[in-house]
Amino acid sequence: MGLFTLIGTAIFLYYILKLADFVRFYFFRPSDEYKKYQQGPQPYALITGATDGIGKSLAKNLYQKGFNVIIHGRNEKKLMATVEEIKALREDGTVESFLVDATSSSIDFAGIAKRFNDLNITLFINNVGGTYLEAKRFEEWSEGDHLAVIRGNALFPTFLTRAFLPSLRKTSLSHPVLVVFNGSFSAELAIPRIPLYTASKAFIQRLPSSLRADERFIAGESNIEFMYVHTGTVQSNNIIASTTFARPTSDEYATHIVKALGGGRVEVVPYVGHQIGLMFIRALPELLLQRFLKEEAKGLFIIGTKKSKKE
Ligand SMILES: NC(=O)c1ccc[n+]([C@@H]2O[C@H](COP(=O)([O-])OP(=O)(O)OC[C@H]3O[C@@H](n4cnc5c(N)ncnc54)[C@H](OP(=O)(O)O)[C@@H]3O)[C@@H](O)[C@H]2O)c1
Ligand SMILES: *[C@@H]1O[C@H](CO)[C@@H](O)[C@H](O)[C@H]1NC(C)=O
Ligand SMILES: *[C@@H]1O[C@H](CO)[C@@H](O)[C@H](O)[C@H]1NC(C)=O
Repeated sequence: MGLFTLIGTAIFLYYILKLADFVRFYFFRPSDEYKKYQQGPQPYALITGATDGIGKSLAKNLYQKGFNVIIHGRNEKKLMATVEEIKALREDGTVESFLVDATSSSIDFAGIAKRFNDLNITLFINNVGGTYLEAKRFEEWSEGDHLAVIRGNALFPTFLTRAFLPSLRKTSLSHPVLVVFNGSFSAELAIPRIPLYTASKAFIQRLPSSLRADERFIAGESNIEFMYVHTGTVQSNNIIASTTFARPTSDEYATHIVKALGGGRVEVVPYVGHQIGLMFIRALPELLLQRFLKEEAKGLFIIGTKKSKKE
């Protein structure tokens, strides 16, 4: 065999394997790998930002599947209403909650973790996040506004996870434990008018693999797994727009996330419509991509304006 035939065959095989992996992951993966996190007497799933959108859909989905849940919100009335809404789905579970604004500069992370110290949390889902959708220039936002975006998207999940880590590590020695960080395609796209949101999501994208390496540094001390969920657009309170193949509803998207739990990958695009969109985006030449993102951003801010009109 000549050198070129060899190289050609290797490249061909590489793409065949990638395609097989794609088909297996999106069409043939088992839908019950999450059960790995349901061992032990009282498994809990903690979900931040669970009073609306994807977080709420996830909490309901996991509660119905038999997990006890701890939900987080910032609005007391909405949080209590969500606790009741979830409780009504099943008779024998426990729904706990905690209230805190993720963008606040003074959060007692240790105090929050202490409340739940004794529970076996096996799924820890950092979902909360978001940004302003006003088309202001970078310097028109105050430093405080910028800090709020960094705190809500990057620092809150980081320090909340840090506070729970000793307890998660202890649980992980008898049951598998998974910590999920919720990210966004914007982590790798330069979307105009939301630079600190995209930078914060990029921070979150790098965190799970680094924390995983850190936890594995001394063998046998911890079996915590980490996962980064790469999310495209989803219909929620944040994004009020029609559903399409590339934009599922929060409820539908939550089922894809649950299916992706326990697969052992560190970075996952749970929904096939998002993956196809991402492949398309990654294949675009830089100039075309910039133009595409500019149009997308215009759409985002129109959606944002619609939302504020609705309120
Ligand atoms: N929707 C999309 O297209 C999309 C795309 C990529 C990534 N994401 C990411 O997905 C996550 C959730 O988005 P979503 O669209 O589901 O949002 P959503 O429907 O607006 O729900 C967000 C949840 O987080 C809570 N929350 C927001 N800001 C908070 C704060 N400062 N402190 C405490 N709680 C707060 C909300 O509470 P309230 O009920 O009180 O508002 C709600 O429970 C975020 O990380 C977001 O960045 C979304
Ligand atoms: C946590 O899991 C351990 C090991 O299975 C178990 O002994 C303990 O009772 C559990 N704790 C709670 C509060 O369910
Ligand atoms: C993650 O963040 C995105 C927006 O940044 C949001 O749409 C999504 O609902 C969040 N949750 C999960 C579990 O992906």
